[in-house]
Amino acid sequence: MTAYDTITRTAAAAGTWTIGDQAVSRLGFGAMRLTGMPWDERPRDRGASIAVVRRAVELGVNHIDTAAFYFVATRSANEIIGAALTPFPDDVLIATKVGPSRGRSSAFEFEPYARPAQLREQVEENIRQLGVDALGLVNLRWGSGLEKEVGSVADHVGALLELRDAGLLRSIGVSNVSADQLAEANSIAPIASVQNRYGLTERADNEVLALARAHGVAFVPFFSMGSAVPHAVPGGAADVTGASVVADIAAAHGATPTQIRLAWTLHQGENVLAIPGTGDIRHLEENIAAGSIRLTDGDLAALDAIAPPA
Ligand SMILES: NC(=O)c1ccc[n+]([C@@H]2O[C@H](COP(=O)([O-])OP(=O)(O)OC[C@H]3O[C@@H](n4cnc5c(N)ncnc54)[C@H](OP(=O)(O)O)[C@@H]3O)[C@@H](O)[C@H]2O)c1
Repeated sequence: MTAYDTITRTAAAAGTWTIGDQAVSRLGFGAMRLTGMPWDERPRDRGASIAVVRRAVELGVNHIDTAAFYFVATRSANEIIGAALTPFPDDVLIATKVGPSRGRSSAFEFEPYARPAQLREQVEENIRQLGVDALGLVNLRWGSGLEKEVGSVADHVGALLELRDAGLLRSIGVSNVSADQLAEANSIAPIASVQNRYGLTERADNEVLALARAHGVAFVPFFSMGSAVPHAVPGGAADVTGASVVADIAAAHGATPTQIRLAWTLHQGENVLAIPGTGDIRHLEENIAAGSIRLTDGDLAALDAIAPPA
C-alpha cells in the first residue's frame, strides 16, 4: 500500500486538535485555490470545485480555511463552500479571515485595512456568503505597520470579542503575527489558532510556534507545501532546497515530495495543523493521504537538517 491509497487513508489518520470548542482533524483544507487565482486565464470549474469540497469532507476533513477576499470575477470561495456543504454538518469548522478586504474588481488589490469598528461588516459579509448563522473561527489577518494606521492588534481583537459575545462568531484566531502580537492578542481574548506562513524550508516563525505550543493554541501554517511545488506560489521562486533529501524519503515511503512536506509539518507538534489548498480532486486526495505518513526519527533528523534557504 502506498501513500496514494486514498480509499483507506482519510484525514482521521492525522489525529485531532481542538480549536475553541471544536475538535478537528489536523489535516484540513485551504479554500483559496477553489476559484482559480486572479492571474489565471479562466476561473476554475464551479462544479469541480464543489466536488473538491464535498470530497474533502467525505474524507474526514472538518477544518476549512476561507476568506471573503478569496474570489475572482465570477467565483467566490465562500459561495462554493456554502453550495457544497449546506446544510453544514455540525462537526465542520469553517475558519475565515478578516482585516484585509478587496474591492469588487477581480484585481488582487487590497483596500485599506479595517479599523476595529469595520470588522463587524466583514464578519457579516462572511456569514452572508457562506449562508450560516454564525462563524466557527475568525482569524484577524494582521500585517506589518498597521498599528499606526488602523489601531493595535488588541483593539481589533477587542472588537472581535464583542462580536463573539453578540453571537456572530465562536472562536477568535490571529494570522501573520509576531510572537509579541500573539501574546498581545491572547491577553485580550482566548486565542484559538494562529495562522502564519511556515514549512520545512520556511522556519522563521519558530518563536511563534513555540509560544502557540506553550499556550495550547493551534498553529496552522499556510504554504506548508507551496514551496515544494515549483511555481505554486506565483512570483515565488521554485524552492529546490533539500529537494534530494525530500525525494529520497518520499521514495522510501512510496509518497510524493509534497506529501513528505505535509507530513513533516504535522510532525512538528500535536498543535500543528495543515491546510493544503487545491482545486484538483486528485491533489486533494494525495494531500489528505499525507496525514497517514509516519516519518521515522531518521527521516525527521534528515529533514530537520535541511538548511532553510538564505
Ligand atoms: N493567512 C494568510 O495570510 C494566508 C495566506 C495564503 C493562504 N492562506 C490559506 O492557506 C491555504 C494554503 O495555501 P495554498 O492554497 O496556496 O496552498 P499551498 O499549500 O501553498 O499550495 C497550493 C498550490 O499547490 C498546488 N498543489 C496542491 N496540492 C498539490 C499536490 N498534491 N501536488 C502538486 N501540486 C499541488 C495547487 O495547485 P492545484 O490547485 O492545481 O492543486 C496550488 O498551485 C490557502 O488555501 C488559504 O486558505 C492563508
